Amino acid sequence: MEILHISAECYPVAKVGGLGDVAGALPKYQQKNGHNVKLIMPMYKTKFLAENEWEVDYKGNAHLGSYYFDFTIIKEKTDKLGFSLYLVDINGLLDRERVYGYEDDAQRFIAFQICVATWLRQWSVQPDVVHCHDYHTGLLPFIFKYCYDFKELQNVPTVLTIHNAEYQGWMSWDKSVWLPRYDNWKAGLLEWGKIINPLAAGIKNAWALTTVSPSYMEELRYNSNGLEDLFEYEKGKCHGILNGIDNEVWNPKTDSFIEQNFDEISVTKGKQQNKEVLCKEFGLDIAYPLFVFIGRLVGEKAADVLPDAIRTAFYSLDKKVNFLILGSGEPLIEQRLDALKQEFSGNYNFYNGYNEKLSHLMYAGADFLLMPSRVEPCGLNQMYALRYGTMPLVRRVGGLKDTVIDIGDNGYGICFSQANINDLVDSCHRAVAVFEKKKIFASYRKKMMQIDNSWDNTVGKYIQLYEQLN
Ligand code: ADP
Ligand code: GLC
Repeated sequence: MEILHISAECYPVAKVGGLGDVAGALPKYQQKNGHNVKLIMPMYKTKFLAENEWEVDYKGNAHLGSYYFDFTIIKEKTDKLGFSLYLVDINGLLDRERVYGYEDDAQRFIAFQICVATWLRQWSVQPDVVHCHDYHTGLLPFIFKYCYDFKELQNVPTVLTIHNAEYQGWMSWDKSVWLPRYDNWKAGLLEWGKIINPLAAGIKNAWALTTVSPSYMEELRYNSNGLEDLFEYEKGKCHGILNGIDNEVWNPKTDSFIEQNFDEISVTKGKQQNKEVLCKEFGLDIAYPLFVFIGRLVGEKAADVLPDAIRTAFYSLDKKVNFLILGSGEPLIEQRLDALKQEFSGNYNFYNGYNEKLSHLMYAGADFLLMPSRVEPCGLNQMYALRYGTMPLVRRVGGLKDTVIDIGDNGYGICFSQANINDLVDSCHRAVAVFEKKKIFASYRKKMMQIDNSWDNTVGKYIQLYEQLN
């Protein structure tokens, strides 16, 4: 099939979180399975852009309200990611250091989507499916169906994958002037709660919807930041397809970011060597179990619970544990995590920022990974942890529920119900008890590493869905 993905992120070009990982891996595995796959994203100022060779694929122009602009679409010459990668360059609008977080994000992503539609309109044969990801691309199914200038795209099947319904891209109606001219009778298909809601527009107009885990699909009908009724209404076209992981990028045997490569046989020794490096770098005590947290420091991830939970765990476990946190996010959480450094120096550290290499070393060298998320559409961290023999401690929610089985149920992880101090600290106690039984713990590590969460297992489900639409 001819498949076109549209995304705001794609690893290794630009990644903020799991969306980047998925957009870098799913197209690659689809292409490996014999399909012809392209991905298009905004051209940010990235290292990847500077270090690779590009050719111009298309030059065009478009309107964003009364603003008339030129844009260029470039293609990476060698398809080195395993699929064809295209970037949209709009001077001054997309070519920035960061992916999101600008005041004019609404304009930026509308302009991006208009460029994609303009580019597609002149293809001689349309793709079999256009696969949109999250709200940044959620207006495209509407644009295809109801914008007068894009009538050629009316019959192109669209799929919207919801990676995270917390972010919806809300904008007031005055911003509708930035959209290409559309059939006004259909204006209701752009809104939810009387304002323009790009995610809701995607949900209403896409031919099919997917969520990144089956449990998240169920949860959205009860908890989706205001979209509950919409998910209930559209449940017939919604499919829960669990994310996979890129086993080539996340492979402890070959990972060049880690200190010591290892496999199931050498896991105990290999992990110990990686742990040594981490402990040395962050001044931690190698004798004690190492708990890590990697991620965005936001309420959704229950990162606000971490500081007090860590303090309680230290006192109730007689300081015979280590915690290492990697992440950035809400300033108050950052400050509170920072303050613990002094209080628990020698057993605690916090790297405030984004560091891809360090994240790999942490999956490899940690004993346990904490994920107390309040909302977790899928979660990739726990799957990476399993692949590197690190036991995940997860709240039973969304994709965490679908991927981690508690050791009490013959599984390989520790699961709890609430994102609160009690549950988190109790789980740390359970973890320490397992850690102390060296032989049993070693056998869990082997068991974790044998779990196959690769995209190879999942890719067929998307293809089946695309086929149903054609
Ligand atoms: P989300 O997309 O909601 O942030 P996921 O679990 O799906 O959560 O994916 C997070 C991805 O981002 C993982 O690849 C994780 O390792 C990575 N990540 C998150 N925060 C950081 C950070 N501060 N430094 C490096 N990698 C990070
Ligand atoms: C989102 C979700 C996360 C998911 C990722 C990739 O960012 O928060 O749970 O794993 O997308 O689908």
